[in-house]
Amino acid sequence: MARQKRSWAEPYRIKMVEPIRMTTRKHRENAIRTAGYNTFLLRSDDVYIDLLTDSGTSAMSDNQWAGLMLGDEAYAGSRSFYHLEEAVADIYGYPELVPTHQGRGAEHILSQILIKPGDVIPGNMYFTTTRFHQEYAGGEFVDIIIDEAHDATSTHPFKGNVDLDKLRTVIADAGAARIPYISVETNVNMAGGQPLSMANLRETYALCRQHGILLMLDATRALENAWFIQQREPGYAKRSVREILLEICSYSDGATVSSKKDNLVNIGGFLALRDPELARRARGLLVAFEGLQTYGGMSGRDMEALSRGIYEMVETDDHVRARVGQVEYLGNKLIAAGVPVALPIGGHGVFLNAQAMLPHIPQEQFPAQSLAAALYVDSGVRSMERGVVSAGRDPKTGENRHPRLELVRLTIPRRVYTQAHMDVVAESVEAVYAERDKIRGLTMTYEPEDLRFFQARFEPVSVTEVLPPRSRS
Ligand code: F0G
Repeated sequence: MARQKRSWAEPYRIKMVEPIRMTTRKHRENAIRTAGYNTFLLRSDDVYIDLLTDSGTSAMSDNQWAGLMLGDEAYAGSRSFYHLEEAVADIYGYPELVPTHQGRGAEHILSQILIKPGDVIPGNMYFTTTRFHQEYAGGEFVDIIIDEAHDATSTHPFKGNVDLDKLRTVIADAGAARIPYISVETNVNMAGGQPLSMANLRETYALCRQHGILLMLDATRALENAWFIQQREPGYAKRSVREILLEICSYSDGATVSSKKDNLVNIGGFLALRDPELARRARGLLVAFEGLQTYGGMSGRDMEALSRGIYEMVETDDHVRARVGQVEYLGNKLIAAGVPVALPIGGHGVFLNAQAMLPHIPQEQFPAQSLAAALYVDSGVRSMERGVVSAGRDPKTGENRHPRLELVRLTIPRRVYTQAHMDVVAESVEAVYAERDKIRGLTMTYEPEDLRFFQARFEPVSVTEVLPPRSRS
């Protein structure tokens, strides 16, 4: 007998709403000009559907809001800290908790306690703040992700995998003594929200142990990675995401987490470790840069909402199924309309392939930045550049890095927007794609030294600078 089709639906109903406002095209043209064609510099009031990021933009549950009222604001020994410590040990499996204000606070402390000038830190693709802190501590990041991750058209199911041959080469060239740890990101953000497989992580960890090198996870989106392992990796179909997440963390010596993603809170993060001695050193810096060891960078109520969010994300598999299901819904709509998107559809957003969409704009004129601005002008949908602007300059040569991926990220906040919002987004992307020949490139008029994408300013290239459109096949 054929099984009846049952769609996924959100495992919650809506108890409170926040009005949003549609603006006129004229208003948006003005707003993006004032923002220097950088979506980070727009005011949120001028945005209709905000897909800038899934970071800190989740809707909390009634249980989390209730937790805010129960936060213990004691300077030392807060009850809420112990709740959080228990949640992290239970769900992630790490005994030592170092609470920070967000993910980069944890990256800062980890980099400072482990990296010496001249060290090399291999990682499965860079993340902006992670690499910044590694370089700031005097280290050098080396990319060891599989080649498929740099190809937006490859449908490899685990594009976040570490290339073990690349890792072996780095170890042979640099020597294990110069590698304080390897940095493994779950559901790799810059690759398009792509998972790594359990088998690959297990092997990577074994190789690290063989050489006495630590393996530190960026477990910011480990839940979404666990979901993809359940869906795609043989042997995991019947395991809960909760069990899979715990197994992921078992192949590591610690993790940095931005709790603003999987963990369903608006602020917070942590460094979690196994080794009490490393944790002791981390706490030494924590009290200097963040706050006392039992709150770090968070208030008691933040920690209370966070520990509840950690349990809630894995209570059943329905949460992550609906979360990734919504992202896939938008992605599949765009694929059906013939819009070039990075494949497979990732866990936290749909990544438009700006290079393929705008072949008439060379990378020096920031195609993804231009596309993000054009999409905003069309409909008030805010997205984010993830291409040459985000990649920044090589600190040694001062040259622009030229990533092969030139993407615009439509990032879906958790539990915030409905399917109807996704329909509007798809319609707008399709409209912009249909009129793509009219989009012009940009020149950068202000470039900050570090993490330039946050504050850089642009203006459209003058008509005389526009290169003739290449013929499209
Ligand atoms: N690691 C990953 C994989 C991230 O995606 C982020 C943040 C961080 C670390 C840093 O954490 O923001 O809490 O300090 N990503 C956000 C984004 C900014 O939009 O992708 P944070």
